[in-house]
Amino acid sequence: MSLIEAVLNTIIIAVLGRKGGIGKTTIATNLAAALARQGFRVALIETDGQGDSTFSVGMSYANDFYSLIMDDAEWSDVLQPVPDAFAGDGLDLWILRAHDAQLNVERNPDTSIRIVERIEELKGFYDYVIIDAGPNLAETHIGLYYAASHIILPTLVESKSIQSVQRMFTYLDQARSASELPVAEVLGIQPNRFDARHRIQHRLLGYISGMYERQAPILEPIQNLAVWEYASTEQVSIYQMAGSHAGRARKQFQPLVAAAIALQNASAERVAV
Ligand SMILES: Nc1ncnc2c1ncn2[C@@H]1O[C@H](COP(=O)(O)OP(=O)(O)OP(=O)(O)O)[C@@H](O)[C@H]1O
Ligand SMILES: [Mg+2]
Repeated sequence: MSLIEAVLNTIIIAVLGRKGGIGKTTIATNLAAALARQGFRVALIETDGQGDSTFSVGMSYANDFYSLIMDDAEWSDVLQPVPDAFAGDGLDLWILRAHDAQLNVERNPDTSIRIVERIEELKGFYDYVIIDAGPNLAETHIGLYYAASHIILPTLVESKSIQSVQRMFTYLDQARSASELPVAEVLGIQPNRFDARHRIQHRLLGYISGMYERQAPILEPIQNLAVWEYASTEQVSIYQMAGSHAGRARKQFQPLVAAAIALQNASAERVAV
């Protein structure tokens, strides 16, 4: 890596999973909030036509990801500032929105390569690019395996969700064999909606460790707390919520935030040597 590349290091994190409702959007939006609140320049990219990230940050829906990939739109025309109410005033936090036209993006055979090319253009302009992906394993997912530097794999603490993490490792292996391009590294498996009251949940956490600890770091579980749902309903991040449950949720989320920040610190150290 040259000195210039290291100085302008952009960490690109995709939050991926083949199952619905495991916390991809919750994690992507709140990670973007956490990093922006640390003073980093952050672009949150929604690639899910459901538009859940767009809703979560308090914005109206738009087909900007379609414009980026299919119409060659300028980044400056499609990246929008996230409202201050979401994570705090004066942050360098931007969003690219996706909506119904995503269906056409998924059907376009050039989408995966276009994603790699277009995300590459952000390098040097943002410290973090955080990508929220839908559960459908189409062209966008494939593009993100190569466009991202890192991947977070959320999983519920339930057997079917845990098994589906294995499929993600298989897809990443297939991506490695299919192209010369580097494939993203798994930053961590994030158990989500953990309920410590049930013995089966502890057993399943042990199962996650046994099954995956050699493949990727396993992060501290995030508990099932209604405050996450309140935050998304009120279109604010967990950092804008008051009360002890919000404090607990932020604390449980912190190891993931710290793992993401450590990636920037590692690149800064490379500049220093
Ligand atoms: N730790 C948690 N505790 C309680 N509720 C949670 C937690 N994490 C996520 N949720 C809620 O679970 C629901 C699903 O989460 P989310 O939308 O982030 O999942 P997703 O993987 O993005 O789903 P999709 O596949 O539809 O995109 C949301 O209503 C969210 O508020
Ligand atoms: Mg989602």
